[in-house]
Order: sequence, then structure tokens, then C-alpha cells
Amino acid sequence: TRTFSIAVIDGDGIGPEVTAEARKVLNAALENDDATLHYTEYSLGTRHWLETGETLHDETLEKLRSHDAILFGAVGADPQDQRIPSGVIERDLLLKLRFELDHYINLRPTRTYPGVSTPLASTEDFDFVVVREGTEGPYVGNGGSLRRGTTQEIATEVSVNTAHGVRRVVADAFARAVSRRGHLTLVHKHNVLTHSGSLWRRTVEEQAALNPQVSWDYMHVDAATIHMVTNPQRFDVIVTDNLFGDILTDLAGAVSGGIGLAPSASINGAGTTPSMFEPVHGSAPDIAGRGIADPTAAILSAGLMLDHLGVKDAAGRIEQAVNAQMAEWAERNTGGGLGSAERGDAYVSRIKALTD
Ligand code: NAD
Ligand code: IPM
Ligand code: MN
Repeated sequence: TRTFSIAVIDGDGIGPEVTAEARKVLNAALENDDATLHYTEYSLGTRHWLETGETLHDETLEKLRSHDAILFGAVGADPQDQRIPSGVIERDLLLKLRFELDHYINLRPTRTYPGVSTPLASTEDFDFVVVREGTEGPYVGNGGSLRRGTTQEIATEVSVNTAHGVRRVVADAFARAVSRRGHLTLVHKHNVLTHSGSLWRRTVEEQAALNPQVSWDYMHVDAATIHMVTNPQRFDVIVTDNLFGDILTDLAGAVSGGIGLAPSASINGAGTTPSMFEPVHGSAPDIAGRGIADPTAAILSAGLMLDHLGVKDAAGRIEQAVNAQMAEWAERNTGGGLGSAERGDAYVSRIKALTD
């Protein structure tokens, strides 16, 4: 048997609630499989910060490096909680992991689910993937304040885009387009962001020349939000920078039927560090502690983890079980109002039915 060592950071708010369901489903999917997962739990996030004043100790980071993958729930304090400065956990834990582990591919697949209604007028299916850059852009922390607190204050946040960083994510997006429907859309805003926009466009042109079987087009990010709502079928692979990708993938989750369905993978394409698997959504303080968060995004993210680890059959079982169960809920009109554990248990039963 193959054994994989998985670090679990379930985090804050609904993070632990959805991660628990993802683990149930992983266990079910791996029953009678030749692969097994060995979990190590890391208690990081808001509570750890309040107790220790630390977000991520260097030693902990080194331990995390030794795992085969990281299963991540969500982090982030309740904005009502005055004790925690805005974004400290997100930046010093989540973004730090993405940067330190060089997760340059932030993969966010988006599709319709059988029977699940979307907010869109059309009921036509769609299936696209956003390849969001994960280590650069305005996320690098290259900013500052001048004359802070005065009426002359100037705050800057410089978006950093390197030839190396853009090339590797664009190359990955082209490779994905080759194995999908052969179309790539670069989303940026080069009418305003001329320097980075030009680098992204030239990089896509270079990679397009190397991948003649892939057709490509360009769309400004504001227009992309229109097309994602009016005609999401037109997208196959979207490649975009860190911030545009963040915003677009919350929209993508919403148009697919809800943010609670949207999975994500933060991947080190070189395979030199563990990749991280996490839902697109956050800690949802508005519904945390009530057992009502949809665990589907976390479960599909766990499926992406198995796929990434090469445990393809079990990954397929998760995908199949989610599809079948959603179709049944839709058919019987019984999905609404289910709790996190009820959903998780239903997926587990589906998987058992598949493997029996
Ligand atoms: P959010 O994604 O946590 O919540 C947005 C809305 O979606 C809320 O109404 C929430 O109830 C709903 N929602 C989210 N996940 C859901 C689920 N599984 N099932 C049902 N409904 C769900 O975004 P936010 O409110 O902007 O952020 C809350 C906190 O999470 C902030 O501290 C933010 O920084 C952090 N955050 C963390 C991550 C992460 O850890 N990967 C991602 C996004 C936001
Ligand atoms: C996401 C989140 C993070 C991001 C935040 C919490 C730093 O919104 O994973 O989409 O902006 O990348
Ligand atoms: Mn986001």
C-alpha cells in the first residue's frame, strides 16, 4: 500500500466543520483502496494566535514541508472581533504558506452540478477552470503608507509581476487547455495596468506559439464578470493574476450554484513542496458554529488532493458520489436545509454504494 502523510490545518469558523466532513469522505473513498492517508493535525489560526501571539512558527513551517500534502479548512477572524487586527491570520498563515511553499498555481475548477440551480437565467451546463497566479501580484506585501494618519496620507500596494512568475503559471494554464477543450482566456486589465498587462499578454503570446493547438483570447477583467454571468459556457481555461483570480473565483462559485461548492488547490507545479487543498470560501463567521456550512467545497478539494497524489480511482469516486448525491437531492427536492454532517454522511453512503 501507498501511504501519504497529510497535514491538516482546519483553521477557524466553519473550517473545522467542513474539514471534518472532508475527512469522513476521504476515509470512505479510500476504504479497500491500496492508498492510505496518515493525518497530522496542526492547530493554527485565530485561537492559536490569541493563545500564543504566533501565527506560524518557523519550526512548524519546516514540519509542514515534510508532508505530502496539506488539507486546509479556512482561516480568518470574525471581523466583529476587535482583538484581532484585520488579515493578520490570512497573511501570516495562509498567504505565508502559499508563498513559502511556492504555490504558484491556484487552481479553481468551476462547473454546474447535476440538478443544482444557479442564479443564471440559462440552465445550460458549463465547466471551466480558473488558473490563478498564487505567489505574486498585489499580494506580495510591497506597499506602504506615507504621512500616515494625516490628511496628506498616501497608501500604496505595488503589484509585482515577474517574467518567471507569469511564464510558469501561463505555461501551466496552456497545458491544462491542451488536456481540456483547447481554449484559453487571458483575463487582465491592460487598458489601465499597462506594464503588467503587457508582460502577461506577451507571455501568453509566447506560450500560444508553443501550443498551436490551443486557441486563445483576451478579456478585460470587468468584461469577464459580465461574460461569467451571461455566457460562462464560453470559458475553458482562464489564466489571470492573483487578485483578479481571487475576485473572479468567488463570482465563479456563486454562478455555479454557491460558494459552498467551490473547491481549490494551491499547487507547487515543480512538486518540490506539498501542495495545499482548500475550499475557495473563508471561515464564514456569519454561519460558523451552527453546523450548517456546505462541506461540498472542502470535499471536492479533498478529491483534488487525491487526484494530485495520483490516487485517481478514489478521487473519481468522490466526484461521482457528489454528482450522484446532488442529482438525488435535486430530484427529490430534499437538499435544502441539510446540515454539514448530513451532507457529509450522504456523500459517504454514496461512496459506499459505489464500492459495494
Ligand atoms: P466567506 O467565504 O467566509 O463568506 C462569504 C459568504 O459565503 C458568507 O455569507 C458565508 O456564510 C457564505 N459561505 C462561505 N462558505 C460557505 C459554505 N461552505 N456553506 C455555506 N455558505 C458559505 O468570506 P468573508 O465573509 O469575506 O470572509 C470571512 C473570513 O474568512 C475573513 O476573515 C476572510 O479573510 C477569511 N477568508 C479566508 C479564506 C481562506 O482561508 N481560504 C478565504 C476567504 C476568506
Ligand atoms: C482565497 C482567500 C484569500 C485570498 C485571503 C483569505 C487571503 O480570499 O483563498 O480566495 O485572497 O487569496
Ligand atoms: Mn478569495
